[in-house]
Amino acid sequence: MSEQNYDVCVVGAGPGGYVCAIRAAQLGLKTVIVEREFLGGVCLNVGCIPSKAMITAAHFLHKMQHDAPEMGFSIGGKIQLDMKKLLGWKQSVCDKMSGGVNQLLKGNSVEIVFGEASFHSAQELLVSPLKGTKTPAAASPGAVKSPIKIRAKNFVLATGSRPIEIPGFKIDEKEVLSSTGALDLDQLPKKTLVIGGGYIGLEIGSYLAKLGSQVTVLEASEALLKGMADPECVQVVARKLKKTGVEVQLKAKAKSYKKMAGGAKAAAAFEVVAEVAGQEKKFAADKILCMVGRRPNSDQANLKVTGVQLDDRGFVKVNEQRRTSVPHIYAIGDVAGQPMLAHKASHEGVLVAEVIGGQNRVYDAKTVPSVIFVDPEIAAAGWTEEEAKAHGHQELKVGKFPFAANGRAVSMRETEGFVKIVADAKTHVVLGVHIVGPEASNLISEAVLAIEMGARLEDLALTIHPHPTLGETMMEAAEATLGHAIHIIQKPLGKAGVGAGAGSNGAKNPSVRA
Ligand code: NAI
Repeated sequence: MSEQNYDVCVVGAGPGGYVCAIRAAQLGLKTVIVEREFLGGVCLNVGCIPSKAMITAAHFLHKMQHDAPEMGFSIGGKIQLDMKKLLGWKQSVCDKMSGGVNQLLKGNSVEIVFGEASFHSAQELLVSPLKGTKTPAAASPGAVKSPIKIRAKNFVLATGSRPIEIPGFKIDEKEVLSSTGALDLDQLPKKTLVIGGGYIGLEIGSYLAKLGSQVTVLEASEALLKGMADPECVQVVARKLKKTGVEVQLKAKAKSYKKMAGGAKAAAAFEVVAEVAGQEKKFAADKILCMVGRRPNSDQANLKVTGVQLDDRGFVKVNEQRRTSVPHIYAIGDVAGQPMLAHKASHEGVLVAEVIGGQNRVYDAKTVPSVIFVDPEIAAAGWTEEEAKAHGHQELKVGKFPFAANGRAVSMRETEGFVKIVADAKTHVVLGVHIVGPEASNLISEAVLAIEMGARLEDLALTIHPHPTLGETMMEAAEATLGHAIHIIQKPLGKAGVGAGAGSNGAKNPSVRA
C-alpha cells in the first residue's frame, strides 16, 4: 500500500474543506484533500447553488407571468416549461462552480484524492476506491484504484451533514425525496407534499409552486421557520406563500404514506397520513419531500478510532480554534456544530488553516448571518428582540422601514417586507437586523459589518447610501429606529436626533421618494 506524508490532510471538499485546503497551501503547508463525491460538497452540487439556480428560474417565470403584462409586455399563450432543459442549465451552473474549485485547488498545489476516507488511527487515514457510485469523484482520473495510506501532522474533518429521516418515510429519492432528489426532478410533480416548514422545505416548496406544482407543506410545530427567523419576517413570507398557492398545515406531523388505489387513474400517486392538531388527516401527493433537518456525518470515516469526542447530538466537540479533543485533529463546518451554514464553514476553514500555520487565531465572530431564500428573502444578523433581552439588554429601540417606501423597490415591483433594526436604547449600539424583502440576502452584509464594528444607529443613519437603491432602506430603518425617518410618517414626531419613535412602524404610511 502506498503511503504519503503531509502537513495537512483535509477530509471533505465542501465549502469548509476546500477553503481550508487552499488557505493551508497558501501558507506553504503540504496539503492533501480527500473527497468521495463532489468538489464543492453538498453546497455547490446538491444544495445552495443548484437551489439558487432553480429559485432564480422560478422567480423569473413568476415575474414574466405577473409583472411583464403590467409593464407592457404581452406574452402570447402559456409559457412552456421544459424541466429537462432547466435541469441541464442548473447542472451547468454547478459544474462551472465545481470545476472552479478543482482549478483553485490545483492552482494552489493542493493534492486531490478521490476515495472513501477511513481513519486507521489518529495519525493515519486510509483512502479506499469508491465502489458502485456514479459520483464525479468516482469517475475522476484522481480516484484511487487501490487503498492508500495518508499520514499527516494535522487532520481537518470537514465531512458535513446528511438529511434526517423520520419513521414511515424512508428516503429513496423516487417516492420520498431529500433535497438532492428534489433538485433533480426532471418532471414537475402535479402535487408535491413537503414535510418540514424549515429552510429547505420552504425554499424548495416555494420554487416548485412557482413552477406550477400544487404544494402542501406539513410543519410539526405551530409556526413556519420556528426559531429560525424573526416571527414578523416569517409573517410576510407566510402571506406570500398563500398568495402563490402553497397550502401550509401547521401542527401537522407526518406519520405514514401508501400508494393510492386506482393506479394511473388515481388522483395522485400517494396518500400521506398526518396528525394535524390531534386529528388524522390525509393528503394526496405525487412526490413526497422529506426536509426535517440534517445530522452531522460524525459517525462515518471510522472516526471512533481517533478518540475524537462528540457531543450528545453527534457534533464533533471543538474549542475556539476548532481543535477537537485530539489536538492535531480539527473539525469545521456542519460536522462541528450549528449553525449549519456554508459561510460559517468557510470562515472556520480559513481560521483552522491559519492556526495550523502558526497564527494565534480564535473564532470570535460576533454574528453569523443567515439567509432563507424564500419569497421575499429573509436575512438576519445579530439578535431578535427576545434574544437581545435574554442577553441583558432590557431597554431596546426597535424600528422598521418598509420596502413600499423605497423607490428602487417600487420600480422593481417588489415592495413586500421591511428592514427592522434592534438596538440598545441607551447606547444605540445595533444588536440585530432582520430583513424580509427583495435582495435581503445581499443587503444583510452591511448589517453584519455594523454589528462586527459595534456600530450605533447614527453610524448607519449618517452613512450616505446611493439613490435609488434598496440599500437606502438600511439607512432609513436606522433613522426610523431613532424616530425620524424621512420617507415614512412617524408619530409622535421627535425632535431632531432624539429617538421619539422607538418601536414605531411606518409600514402603514409609506410615502415614496420621487
Ligand atoms: P430545518 O431544521 O430548517 O427545518 C425542519 C423542519 O421540519 C422544522 O421546522 C421541524 O419542526 C419540521 N419537522 C420535523 N419533523 C416533522 C414531521 N414529522 N412532520 C412535519 N414537520 C416536521 O431543516 P431543513 O429544512 O432540512 O434544513 C437543514 C439545515 O440546512 C438548516 O438548518 C440549515 O442550517 C441548512 N440550510 C441552509 C440554507 C440557507 O442557508 N439558505 C438552505 C437550506 C438548508
